[in-house]
Amino acid sequence: MIRVGIFGATGYTGIELVKILARHPQVHIAFATSDSYVGKKLSDAFPCPYDIPLVAHDAAPLDTIDVAFLALPHGASADFAKRARDAGARVIDLSADFRLRDAGAYKKWYGLDHHAPDLLPQAVYGLPEIHRAKIKPAQLIANPGCYPTSVILGLAPIVRAGASDGAIIVDAKSGVSGAGRKPSLTVHFVEVNENLSPYNIGRAHRHLSEMEQELTALGETRGIIFSPHLLPVSRGILSTMYVRLKDGWNEQALRDLYVEAYRAEPFVRILPGGQVATLAHSNYTNYCTISLHPVAEVGQAIICASIDNLIKGAAGQAVQNMNVMFGLEETAGLL
Ligand SMILES: NC(=O)c1ccc[n+]([C@@H]2O[C@H](COP(=O)([O-])OP(=O)(O)OC[C@H]3O[C@@H](n4cnc5c(N)ncnc54)[C@H](OP(=O)(O)O)[C@@H]3O)[C@@H](O)[C@H]2O)c1
Repeated sequence: MIRVGIFGATGYTGIELVKILARHPQVHIAFATSDSYVGKKLSDAFPCPYDIPLVAHDAAPLDTIDVAFLALPHGASADFAKRARDAGARVIDLSADFRLRDAGAYKKWYGLDHHAPDLLPQAVYGLPEIHRAKIKPAQLIANPGCYPTSVILGLAPIVRAGASDGAIIVDAKSGVSGAGRKPSLTVHFVEVNENLSPYNIGRAHRHLSEMEQELTALGETRGIIFSPHLLPVSRGILSTMYVRLKDGWNEQALRDLYVEAYRAEPFVRILPGGQVATLAHSNYTNYCTISLHPVAEVGQAIICASIDNLIKGAAGQAVQNMNVMFGLEETAGLL
């Protein structure tokens, strides 16, 4: 059995980790942490059937685990990653702390001096569809952000093939759980309900740095314009991406490219022509669902990609990474 510790079990991604790992056939949950509910059970903090005792983050027995999942805010995560690595545990960090390779870029986008810059060189960006071989031996995984998971998977084949010409426009919508469990005015029911709000549009959202870092490593891009929106649903992300295609890319060539790129992938589904990816295709699953919509008259393609932000966008992908790291069936606990 793989012994896991879950930091931040009382948050939205933390509780998803517990749900997935509790039913994983090869995992034992050694501990779960929370400072706000220390001494209580997880079922006291969250309406759930898990009577797991909660220990303070600082009191976590790191010598009892093989791998630590960090479902903590950025900034806090790096401190616990360092401690877990010092104790010999492998780390899967769901925060943004190790996603950007450069501490200067992290400071620019997250406004913080990195708490563990010495660990950055060993961090592997945990998108199995792109980095599986590097994830296997990794000691520290930077689990991708939710928007970037949908956008990178949605664009990777086109960028790798050099088929895009000009800036790519990404219009993305996220359910409110994307903002975490801590209440704020922005996620207040009355502000969100029956509303649709763009935020940090253009080139202002932090996730842009991550998308461009990963996509430019795959091929040439002429930049991304990224417009996220807050959608009045609990969960799910739908990214609609507008790509100007180079000459010669017709509908069949585009479809063949995507089908071939993801043929062996257990968690990426390319929908048949005529179908459109929606939140419902992916919610409550670890799938990324992609649909392709060439607009031949203007030499463009529209690509729609949906994921569940808490599963493929966070906890499910983290478990997929664990499965790869420990040589388990990649789908274990996730189907
Ligand atoms: N929500 C998503 O869709 C999503 C998707 C991908 C990645 N992420 C990332 O995953 C991480 C967790 O997100 P979330 O949505 O689960 O957040 P959340 O619901 O706000 O939960 C955060 C957890 O961290 C703990 N915590 C809060 N402040 C802390 C601090 N200063 N030091 C240590 N622990 C602290 C909280 O526990 P106590 O207060 O009980 O200690 C809570 O369990 C974040 O870095 C987020 O960016 C989230």
